[in-house]
Order: sequence, then C-alpha cells, then structure tokens
Amino acid sequence: MEQTSELYKDLEKVLLTKEEILEKVRELGRQITRDYAGKKPVMVCILKGAAVFFTDLIREIDLPLTLDFMAISSYGSATKTSGVVRILKDLDNDILGKDVIVVEDIVDTGITLTYLSRILQQRGAKSLKIATLLDKPARRKVQDLKVDYMCFDIPDAFVVGYGLDYDQRYRNLPDIGILSPKIYGNQ
Ligand code: IMP
Ligand code: MG
Repeated sequence: MEQTSELYKDLEKVLLTKEEILEKVRELGRQITRDYAGKKPVMVCILKGAAVFFTDLIREIDLPLTLDFMAISSYGSATKTSGVVRILKDLDNDILGKDVIVVEDIVDTGITLTYLSRILQQRGAKSLKIATLLDKPARRKVQDLKVDYMCFDIPDAFVVGYGLDYDQRYRNLPDIGILSPKIYGNQ
C-alpha cells in the first residue's frame, strides 16, 4: 500500500515505517530464540490488535513453538478501562507447566495485561512473559506490571496501523501513524 492511499490521509504523521518495525521485530525474534533455547514456548496472540505483529514475530523465532489465541475486552467506556477483563475467546489448549509468551500490540495503562497475567498465572504456567510491540510508559497506571520484551517506546498519542485500530479501522495500514485529531472530532 502506498503512503498516498486514502487511509494515510487520516494520519497526522507516520511514526514508524514498516521497515523500521520489521527490523525491530527481527531483533526481538532473535532475542527470544536465544532466551528460550531448549524450550518450546507457547506464543499467545491477543486478538485482534496483536495479530499483525504476532505473524511477523513468530516467523523470526527459530524454536519448536506452538501458537494459541485469545480475545479479550475491557469492561468500561471506550476511554476508561475498568480493570476487569472479559474473555471473548479463550485459549484452545491448557498452559499448565508451559512457558508462555503473551504477545500484545500496545501497553497503555497496563490494566488489561495485569489482569490477564493474573488469570494465566493462576492456570499454572511454568513461566509467563509479556512481549509488546509498543509501550506508552507515560500513561501507565499500574506500577508492578513487568513488560519483558518491547519494540518501541512511543509518546502519549493515539496510534493506528500494523494491527492497531481506531473503531476497528486502520488495522491494515502497513506503517504505524498518529491518528489525526480531526478523526476523533467526527465521532
Ligand atoms: P491498557 O494497557 O489496559 O490501557 O489497554 C491497552 C489496550 O488499549 C491495547 O491493547 C489497545 O487495544 C488499546 N490502546 C491503547 N492505546 C492505543 C492506541 O494508541 N491505539 C490503538 N489502541 C490503543
Ligand atoms: Mg488491544
């Protein structure tokens, strides 16, 4: 997709290009390959936002890993997370005794992942690590969430593309961009 396409017109600016993203994802894949040498991690994709990152990342990890998928939604309004997560689609397989890596698109307040980590720990995972593409540390509300792997620290702006959405749109943008405020204004 060209940056002159219709979807790009709603961006204030491109923050990260697909080339920059892929370079970091490759680096992360190599790091996970080293860290999990001799292990068979279960890679858990948090739908839908992490789907694009997930499919790129798993192909950069040279291990006998397996995949699973989970879809969650936060109770509360669109702008305020309540801290209670509803599971829309649960994992297909048991994670008891497994080395689990949760793959998320972005950590914002951290409330969603804190809640999710607790649920997965209770199911008896042998180890649990979090890999996120983006992190907005300025917005964090929970201080004890440990993000183990992260590709980019970004400023406090609303971003879309490479899987991330606004109202379910823009997930198919190959790059990540800051959404133009005029788009929110129309809502
Ligand atoms: P939190 O860490 O519990 O606040 O929630 C993180 C979730 O909020 C992510 O999984 C995204 O679905 C969503 N989110 C937060 N910031 C953004 C953004 O800038 N663009 C798109 N989605 C976002
Ligand atoms: Mg999400």
